[in-house]
Amino acid sequence: MALRSIRGRLALRLTLSFLIPTVGGLLAVGLIADQVAQRTLEAQLSERLIAIAKSERAMLEGYFTELLTRVEGTDERSLTNLQKRIAPIAKETGVRRVFIFRPDTLTNIVDANNAVPYGHRYYELEADAVELSAVRDGECRPSVLYTAEDGTPYKYAYAPIFNPNTGEVIAIIGVEGSADQVEELEQLRRNLLILGAVIVLVLLLTATWTARRLRKAVSNLVAAAKRIGAGNLEEGVPQTRTDELGELEVAVDRMREALRSREEELQMMLSGIAHEVRNPLGGIELFVGLLDEDLAEVGHAAGAGPRGHVARVTRELEYLARVVNEFLEYARRSKLSPSRFAAEPFIKELEQVMAADLLSAEVTLKMTVPEGLELTADRDRLRRVLLNLIRNAGQASSPGATVEVEVLAQADKRMVRVTDQGAGIAKEKLEEVFRPFFTTREKGTGLGLPLARKVIEAHGGELHIESEVGKGTQLTLVIPFDAEMKGAESMTDIPDGWLG
Ligand SMILES: Nc1ncnc2c1ncn2[C@@H]1O[C@H](COP(=O)(O)OP(=O)(O)O)[C@@H](O)[C@H]1O
Ligand SMILES: [Mg+2]
Repeated sequence: MALRSIRGRLALRLTLSFLIPTVGGLLAVGLIADQVAQRTLEAQLSERLIAIAKSERAMLEGYFTELLTRVEGTDERSLTNLQKRIAPIAKETGVRRVFIFRPDTLTNIVDANNAVPYGHRYYELEADAVELSAVRDGECRPSVLYTAEDGTPYKYAYAPIFNPNTGEVIAIIGVEGSADQVEELEQLRRNLLILGAVIVLVLLLTATWTARRLRKAVSNLVAAAKRIGAGNLEEGVPQTRTDELGELEVAVDRMREALRSREEELQMMLSGIAHEVRNPLGGIELFVGLLDEDLAEVGHAAGAGPRGHVARVTRELEYLARVVNEFLEYARRSKLSPSRFAAEPFIKELEQVMAADLLSAEVTLKMTVPEGLELTADRDRLRRVLLNLIRNAGQASSPGATVEVEVLAQADKRMVRVTDQGAGIAKEKLEEVFRPFFTTREKGTGLGLPLARKVIEAHGGELHIESEVGKGTQLTLVIPFDAEMKGAESMTDIPDGWLG
């Protein structure tokens, strides 16, 4: 459950950076604790077994040498006597075995359970050769820990029995005990394991939760940055946190505010230009017209002398007006007003507008549009974009060439492709043609293509260009087909009133 909600690299990294050191640390502590517990238990067992061996020895002190001499003659009674003496302690302490054997031959003298015959050799004790040699020298020693076939760990403890007269080690008492406490150790291990699992789980949940909150904050910021990048400066950045990320939210929101006020200033300036430049231009046009009439009245011929100059002024004025208009329309904001319309009449209209222009340039216009196809777009703006693309194509073509306009449909996309057989554009200029004011025409504004791209992108579409010098150019615009007009609201602001 916890794992499934960890999505994204940030969350994963965060979780791992919590998890790896914790699990590592837990494992190390667990292993050490386990070792310490095991060693302590083992040492305790050794001590206990040695204490038992010693108390058995104390029991026998005084008469063991004598008993042993009798036993030597395989005196059944003495053997029974000996067995009866060592049996009670063995029974009381609950050890598995208590037995007395010869130090040199490792053969049995007697065992508390009376289960091993006299003289039986304990081959298994050969494994404890090192310990036994120390016992022969008079020390008490535990063996290492063995594991029985049923998995229970056990060990021996050995205590020497001395001849009180000579001090010689005449026999060894062996005590075999199993580590009952191992059960406790197992319990401890289980508890540690459960504790570890709980810690890891809690950690995983905390990490997931933290990661999720961080990711949410980050994706909020990303969304805000994208909005700002796309020019939406109205919607504020939500303040969701009080930490450094919260500071970033505040900073990004301030940046948005600053951009917005600059944008406002710019729009106001543009309105100023619209007013202060466009209006006088209108006046100049009017008076130049009057001047031309006056000159005609006093007998000046059209197109030559003073009236030739007036005609020149008129042309320059027209150009200036076009530049101002296109510039304003490129830079000023306004909303798209999308609608759903049939493609065929739309394209026919373009053909009518362009026919005269292209005819005079001796360029053939060929239009293909699938029957019944529909488009969704700001009809007026799309029309102006296409008019500019067709006009550009016509201007690049030589007499006798063809300009082809094709409308193509994909599931949720519409494409309009304008292809010409004109001069083409050099590879290194392909991006430059989209820069405002880049033009190679004497009376070009260089705003047609940049505005076209802006309009298409505002529709959520793309404008592609392919060109080969001397062969021709192909511009393809791709716009989404939004049958329910859902995206209409989200379309970005773009200029209005453009007459590309
Ligand atoms: N179809 C085309 N073939 C060759 N060059 C083109 C074509 N379309 C545009 N261009 C080049 O891109 C420039 C910019 O075009 P545009 O932005 O429409 O501005 P303008 O038409 O005012 O020059 C043109 O001046 C021309 O050099
Ligand atoms: Mg143009």
